[in-house]
Amino acid sequence: MKTNKYIPFEPIDIPDRTWPSKTIKEAPVWCSVDLRDGNQALIDPMNLEQKLEMFKTLVDIGIKEIEVGFPSASETEYEILRTLIDGNYIPDDVTIQVLVQSREHLIKKTFEAVKGAKNVIIHFYNSTSTLQRKVVFKKDMPGIIDIAVNGARLIKKLSDELMETSDINIRYEYSPESFTGTEMDNAVEICQRVLEELGATPENKVILNLPSTVEGSTPNGYADQIEYFCRHLKDRDSAVISLHPHNDRGTAVAAAELGLLAGAERIEGTLFGNGERTGNVDIVTLALNMYTQNVDCKLDFHDINHIKEVYEDATNMKVGPRQPYAGELVFTAFSGSHQDAINKGKAFMRENNPDKWEVPYLPIDPADVGRDYEPIIRINSQSG
Ligand code: KIV
Ligand code: ZN
Repeated sequence: MKTNKYIPFEPIDIPDRTWPSKTIKEAPVWCSVDLRDGNQALIDPMNLEQKLEMFKTLVDIGIKEIEVGFPSASETEYEILRTLIDGNYIPDDVTIQVLVQSREHLIKKTFEAVKGAKNVIIHFYNSTSTLQRKVVFKKDMPGIIDIAVNGARLIKKLSDELMETSDINIRYEYSPESFTGTEMDNAVEICQRVLEELGATPENKVILNLPSTVEGSTPNGYADQIEYFCRHLKDRDSAVISLHPHNDRGTAVAAAELGLLAGAERIEGTLFGNGERTGNVDIVTLALNMYTQNVDCKLDFHDINHIKEVYEDATNMKVGPRQPYAGELVFTAFSGSHQDAINKGKAFMRENNPDKWEVPYLPIDPADVGRDYEPIIRINSQSG
């Protein structure tokens, strides 16, 4: 295979980075994008019934911000959003999020779609990367900044009008799509301009969502970008920094974890990592990783099998047998020596009743997610 075909990730110059010596101490704000990014990646997108079941499950898990669709993109998406609002499916403490490109007619349609909702995040985006500017938009950076600023101006105007005439509470989110492929100073500049246009303040923060739209580096590269961005954004206190990692290199969970260490406060992801191509970051794994470190993840996975069933019914996708925490085989042991150690660990727990979980080979008590440990006895064992 050729070895010089691709443009490698260019590391960020940040020798005094601080994230490597930090640990995750609290859960981020969770935002599910199952019904949008997840849905748009399905061979057969969810129908209304499946979307409602998925929405209810996300609420039961405890997710408080849920991106429900792209209502200006199609009549179906529009209708689904209207059903959620008109059918009173949205609890008062849950905020729905709607995605829209930073384009006038789509923004106007989006505001029509959200009327009657209580809490809404208007999430607008445009692509900012060097590559997309060159091959897709054929625009320079000032042209790309204009798209974002014009969108922000219109969104602010329409929100002010709607909030004056109804009880709706509107917050804003901006994504410089393909952030990780954007020169960091350009990413900072466009986001700063958006904050200013939207009148962001520490009391009324704007969510800045920094996606790795296509994952293109080791996770430390993403973390460096996040730390650089947070340091250089003038109005850092007026922003909530959100991550939206995709999983092209298979390291979205690690990227999200390191990105949190680097200063982010919010995560957008999906159940079991469904999403475009190799998927979005898996919220279940991320949250339960935190749980095993005694961080209150603020989500409830006590019946993971039920969540898996809803997911599989709604998406027609399968959770793989070795998917962390949820796969059919993750609480099994095939090897005799592993089985022996687990049995001894369980006996130790029974006899000593310690207040910490101390069983070899089982990083989490299966009962915490409604599962059991299963030793697998094979007649022709080939190892262990
Ligand atoms: O992956 C991505 O960049 C997105 C944006 C629309 C946030 O899904
Ligand atoms: Zn995405």
